[in-house]
Amino acid sequence: MKPIEVRLLSRSDVLSLDLTPSQVVEAIERALAEHAAGTFEMHPKIGVHPTGTDPANFIHAMPAYLKQLGACGLKWVAGFARNYQHDLPNVTGLQVCNDTATGIPLAVMECGYLTGLRTAAVSSIIARECALPEARTLALAGCGFEGTMHLRFLVDQIPGLREIRLRDIRPAAMQTLKEQAGQYFSGEIRICEDNRTCFAGADIICTCTNGDEQLLQPDWFRQGAFAVGIEGGCAFTAEALHSADKFIVDDIPLAEYFDRISRDRVTEDGKPDPEFPGGLPEVYATIGEVVTRRKPARTSATERIVAIPIGMAICDVALGQLAWTKAAERGTGQMFRLT
Ligand SMILES: NC(=O)c1ccc[n+]([C@@H]2O[C@H](COP(=O)([O-])OP(=O)(O)OC[C@H]3O[C@@H](n4cnc5c(N)ncnc54)[C@H](O)[C@@H]3O)[C@@H](O)[C@H]2O)c1
Repeated sequence: MKPIEVRLLSRSDVLSLDLTPSQVVEAIERALAEHAAGTFEMHPKIGVHPTGTDPANFIHAMPAYLKQLGACGLKWVAGFARNYQHDLPNVTGLQVCNDTATGIPLAVMECGYLTGLRTAAVSSIIARECALPEARTLALAGCGFEGTMHLRFLVDQIPGLREIRLRDIRPAAMQTLKEQAGQYFSGEIRICEDNRTCFAGADIICTCTNGDEQLLQPDWFRQGAFAVGIEGGCAFTAEALHSADKFIVDDIPLAEYFDRISRDRVTEDGKPDPEFPGGLPEVYATIGEVVTRRKPARTSATERIVAIPIGMAICDVALGQLAWTKAAERGTGQMFRLT
């Protein structure tokens, strides 16, 4: 039998691949197109929930297969929002890429950084499709890891932006992101002391928080605006979420599953903490359907559009294949003799 060798990629190996926003967006758009075409296999994330520090803790298993791309694998990813108390990231985990012809594992890689890239790419793609063409103002709440990645991708995909408003409960996080963003964005960057100043009247709203506070009020969500939240719908009040004229998700079975399992979820202090406040709104389209023009994105200058990407394993698999292929070409990482 031939020996099997697996490529191991640490976070710094993945970073050294210098994946650009356009390369990542291209890989993610291929996955979204396969989602719309139905040429994939994916299941709602199954998981375990060690609730030690927070009832919302999870570790999810996310297998997926993309038939046209010929990519398959599994992400085993944890989200522990209180990890900052131990100077550790919120999202951590491993991703395995498998060969679709033989099933053998080809690579095992750190998946936290890749998750940031894929989530930011998905949000920025759907923002590009749904925001008004004349959108100039972006309000970003949550300036942690995902917020930082999102800002880079949103600026890349929406070149018309002129003003960025940042909001976080940690002033240092806003200041750090402001300084970083100043290196690639030439417009105005404002630090906001409250949610109203950040959100009210913004053309594009993006929430990347890890708290359980419902931030977005309906009267701050102006007509013609687009909003995307990556915490499920948890950062929106029920009224803001249900005020949307069009409601978009990445995958309907995934959204329905998270709606179902979170209906009785409560925060540490006993407050209801559903994935979609007020229940799952009626879904207009999936992100894949919009990106492939199966369904039109914006059809009026006044409609409010909300997108909630829960996070699809097919996107991780597409990005994992890009990372693995680049790493193999460059000889990045270490080989582990499996058999
Ligand atoms: N949908 C997806 O595909 C997907 C993928 C990855 C992560 N996530 C989610 O994204 C969220 C952010 O993850 P992260 O890795 O960036 O976490 P992080 O801890 O690095 O950043 C979260 C930031 O939110 C800030 N914050 C908390 N409460 C806030 C509030 N009330 N107002 C403003 N800011 C607030 C924190 O201070 C922190 O800076 C988590 O909820 C995570 O589960 C979703």
